Amino acid sequence: MSTEHISERTSVAIVGAGPAGLLLSHLLHQQGIDSVVVEARDRDYVEARVRAGVIEHGAADILRAAGVGDRMDREGLPHEGIELRFAGEGHRIPMTELTGRHITVYGQQKLVHDLIERRLADDGDVRFACGPAEIHDVDAANPSVTYTVNGTPHRVVADFVVACDGAHGVGRHALSGVLTTYEKTYPFSWLGILAHAAPRVDELVYANHPRGFALYSMRSPSITRLYLQVPADDRLDDWPDDRIWEELALRFSLGGEPWEPTVGEIFERSLAPLRSYVGEPMQRGRLFLAGDSAHIVPPTGAKGLNLAVRDVELLSRALGAARRGDETLLKSYTDRAMQAVWRAEYFSWWMTTMMHRFDDSDFDRRVQEAQLRNVVSSTAYATALAENYVG
Ligand code: FAD
Ligand code: DHB
Repeated sequence: MSTEHISERTSVAIVGAGPAGLLLSHLLHQQGIDSVVVEARDRDYVEARVRAGVIEHGAADILRAAGVGDRMDREGLPHEGIELRFAGEGHRIPMTELTGRHITVYGQQKLVHDLIERRLADDGDVRFACGPAEIHDVDAANPSVTYTVNGTPHRVVADFVVACDGAHGVGRHALSGVLTTYEKTYPFSWLGILAHAAPRVDELVYANHPRGFALYSMRSPSITRLYLQVPADDRLDDWPDDRIWEELALRFSLGGEPWEPTVGEIFERSLAPLRSYVGEPMQRGRLFLAGDSAHIVPPTGAKGLNLAVRDVELLSRALGAARRGDETLLKSYTDRAMQAVWRAEYFSWWMTTMMHRFDDSDFDRRVQEAQLRNVVSSTAYATALAENYVG
């Protein structure tokens, strides 16, 4: 170990203060296990990063049980159905009627804010603006995480390291040599916007239109969240405001008429490539991966954040048992997490291929429409969609 590091010790060193890292740190604290969270970016950046919006029934229950669901319950929007719109018609999938469960529309950055507030109120050790951390010695008894702030190198030595460092983190590199990866890249991205505009409808609309996919979502009674399928090489500059609104009106058309979302000032925009990725195993020695660091889903099924919540719930219980001397749950972490991961991978791939426009044959297109008609006309298909969606 290099001597110039400022060296400290904790039970669990967590890389990344996204939803996975923050919730894990909180769940460990509730079991009396100390942790240090090391985040590359500053707090403002992390709290402002706009991403997911749909929280599954099961994930909401986990957040509530952990005592971090109060604002979600106050400000989140419970939704009992979604609309699938295609061939100029809208079809409601009554999720709650079919499953008895519902989703909550609540912005990920609000959840991240809630988790940070709660960690800090509990004197949690969350370190922002650390720059990219590195992970060391995962096969040894004392793995560690290092980072440098203002030229001073720091080392956090731990019993366990958990990489919650997202799709571009370092966690998965520490598994090189033992990792098998499964990947699929889609030939398009999502252009996502937030606008100061009252939602025109109460429920999410997933639209498959000859010009491409569009998604109508919301954040509050005065903020709309909208997405457009765009070619993978498009840039934000290609999409001035007028073009976005025109395109949305066309893709949401009903009965051959354009259907325009309520228009308002666009105050956030981003591009997200669509990708499926799974790395197996999710652990090596004393290192564990959770959330996007271990698996990515295309956003069409609204599963990424929810999987992250499920991973850390499993892992926190396993780390709690390990603390009591039983490492059985830790050893089987990957196997137990993978069941939900592959189910979500399948559902997200299915929703993505059913809802987007591909450069494919007339045959493929007709089959896609037949598939959509099946889902909206068969209770069995609609229930399968609803069960997977509400989680
Ligand atoms: P992240 O949120 O990516 O957090 C990782 C953290 O690690 C970041 O703060 C990063 O700065 C930090 N980090 C990275 N590398 C390092 C390093 N070396 N050192 C220190 N820190 C590091 N999911 C849903 O469930 N429902 C949805 O409706 C939904 N919609 C989405 C829409 C879009 C457009 C996108 C892009 C995603 C959507 N998702 C959705 C997915 C969801 O946002 C992610 O799955 C979720 O953010 C994963 O959380 P995480 O904590 O694993 O990773
Ligand atoms: C949102 C994001 C999704 O990926 C999705 O499938 C539904 C809603 C959202 O950001 O609101």
